[in-house]
Order: sequence, then structure tokens, then C-alpha cells
Amino acid sequence: MSADDALAPTETSLARPIERSQDGTLRLLDQRALPHQERWIEVRTAEEAVAAIRALAVRGAPAIGIAAAYTIALIAEREGVEQARSAAHALASARPTAVNLGWACRRMLARLEACAGDGQDVASALASEADAIAHEQHAADRAIATAGAELVPPGGRLLTICNTGALATGAEGTALAVALEAHRRGRLAEVLVLETRPLLQGARLTTWELARAGVPHRLLCDSAAATACARGLVDCVFVGADRIARNGDVANKIGTYMLAVLARHHGIPFYVAAPLSTFDPATPDGRSIPIEERAPAEVSEFAGQAIAPARTKVWNPAFDITPAALVSAIVCERGVLRPPLATAIARVAGSAERS
Ligand code: MRU
Repeated sequence: MSADDALAPTETSLARPIERSQDGTLRLLDQRALPHQERWIEVRTAEEAVAAIRALAVRGAPAIGIAAAYTIALIAEREGVEQARSAAHALASARPTAVNLGWACRRMLARLEACAGDGQDVASALASEADAIAHEQHAADRAIATAGAELVPPGGRLLTICNTGALATGAEGTALAVALEAHRRGRLAEVLVLETRPLLQGARLTTWELARAGVPHRLLCDSAAATACARGLVDCVFVGADRIARNGDVANKIGTYMLAVLARHHGIPFYVAAPLSTFDPATPDGRSIPIEERAPAEVSEFAGQAIAPARTKVWNPAFDITPAALVSAIVCERGVLRPPLATAIARVAGSAERS
């Protein structure tokens, strides 16, 4: 199987955000340009990969881990073991909140050290490790979609935020894969997509993916979520995660906590869909999760135009923490984890392959 085949999605309607060409170059679908333009960027160095991750050209917790893993393999092939080692360290800290990034880099480093110690071919070992990470994501996404679709009531209307589809995992997605699977089974009426200020991952990316898959959907301003719940338009909320702490607190796109509070108030189930690579048993609770704060201009400007007076102070946290107490269940590749989440997480994340 070629590297290209290894990254092929299971369905042609799914986006392919990460590709490896035959010459070993890493190609990323530039998600900043979507939905208007399908533009690709080529990554040849660790610096280029770090920049692409920070700029959200590639984004979504699992996808940035996979992009980092392939970059480390690429650097090992082109520049050698020492450079691959420093690339892994640089990539691990490109963004702070999604634990998948550090997890993938640590896993690549562990393989590198094991092979270097044994005098093995490090470059080919790292290429197969990166393939393994991508393949495992495919399997995890499929299992999440299958288990999660059972939680969507017949004729269900599902509310989601940000983008958790193929673009975010390189495979089928997590929360969005649940929606796609529920649609395939004929039990989904529609997806309500929050636009997801300030970078509009919902408006630009999730609608693009749902349209490609032929799934009925409507786009809402973030601030319309409460009214949608109050009017009885939402049967379940499904979101992804960037990191799940040991006690079940969930870091995800800013606005997720707001949805969890709303869901509790209106008696709507609030589900988190995430692979085990997003669980972080080393982090006790949400207060210990580092929250990325991004550039003020993302909030004070729109499409390059200022929308606030010059020198307006801005606070731009990219993620928030949803307390475990507001989560109805977490759907992972090992099934549906119900409260008490700390106990359920200890059962599955203890046995997760973590380096
Ligand atoms: O800043 P982003 O676009 O990388 O944020 C992505 C999210 O918050 C997703 O919900 C999360 O990474 C899960 S993706 C399956």
C-alpha cells in the first residue's frame, strides 16, 4: 500500500486534508481558503509545518497530530535523525491545547529513539509510525460514528460547533462523522451548524463538508443557539474535543461550554465525540489544560477590515472548558462513556496506547 493509499478516506465525498506525494512531500489542503478555494500548500521543513499548524491551514486536534507525524517522518528522510528529533520538539508546542499534537510527537520520538538505539532504518520506521497514527484515526472515527449514531433519536436534529469532520481528523471526523452516519441510517433530520466566531470553522468548513455529503443543514449565528434550544429545534448536541482531562472536563472550541450550559438548561443531551488520543490522563482537570489565546485581529477585524475602533482591547481565547458535570456522555472508539466520567475514563484511557 502506498502512502497515498494509506491516507485515502473511506468515501469519496470526504475531504482529504493531508496528503503525502510520491516524492515524500507533505501537502496540506489550506483550510483558510475554504470554502471558496481548494488550494494546497507544500510542507518541506519543520518550520513550514509549525507555521501551517499555527495559522490553521491544517487544524482540528487529530489532523494536526497526523500532520506533525508525517512532517517528522519527512524530516528524518530528508535531513536525518538529529533534525527529526528537533522537529518533533518544535512541532509538539506549535499549539498548546489539543493534546493529540504532543501525543503524536511523543509517539514519533519514542519510535525514533527505539530505532536509533537498535541501529535500524529510522526514516522508514517513522514513515510507518506516521501511517499507523493515520490508520488508527480511521478506525477510531468509524467506531465513533457507529456508536454515536445510536444516540441520535430518529428524526433527530443535531446542533454542533466548529468543524469536527474529515478536515479535522484526516479520516471521517468525530462529532460530524456521527451526523453523517445518522444521516446514512435515515435517522437525522438536520444538522444545525454554529458559525463559530471568530474564524468561522462552522460556517466555512462544516457546511462545506455537509453539503458534499448531502446532509441537510442550516447555519446559525453562535448567539442563536439559545433561541434554537428554547424553540425546540435541537434534540442533541454533539461536539468534538481538543483535550479531555482525567476527571472528564473537556477542552474544545470557544463556545462549547455555552452549549453545554444551554443543553443542561433545556434538558437536551450534550455529547462529546473524541478518539482516545484526545484523552489526557496526565491532566487532572480542566483548570490544568492550557488554553490558546490567539491574535486580537481575529476578533477586531473581519476579512481584513477593522470592525472595532483602533486600539480596542481584545481577549481571544480559542478554546473553553466544559465541566464534566455537564457532559451526558463521551463517545470514543471504545464505546459510549457515561458518568461518572472519571471512572469510565480510567477504564479506557489507562489502556490507551500512549507514549
Ligand atoms: O482551532 P481549531 O479549528 O483547530 O479547533 C478545532 C476544534 O475545536 C475541534 O472541535 C476539535 O479539535 C476536535 S476535531 C475532531
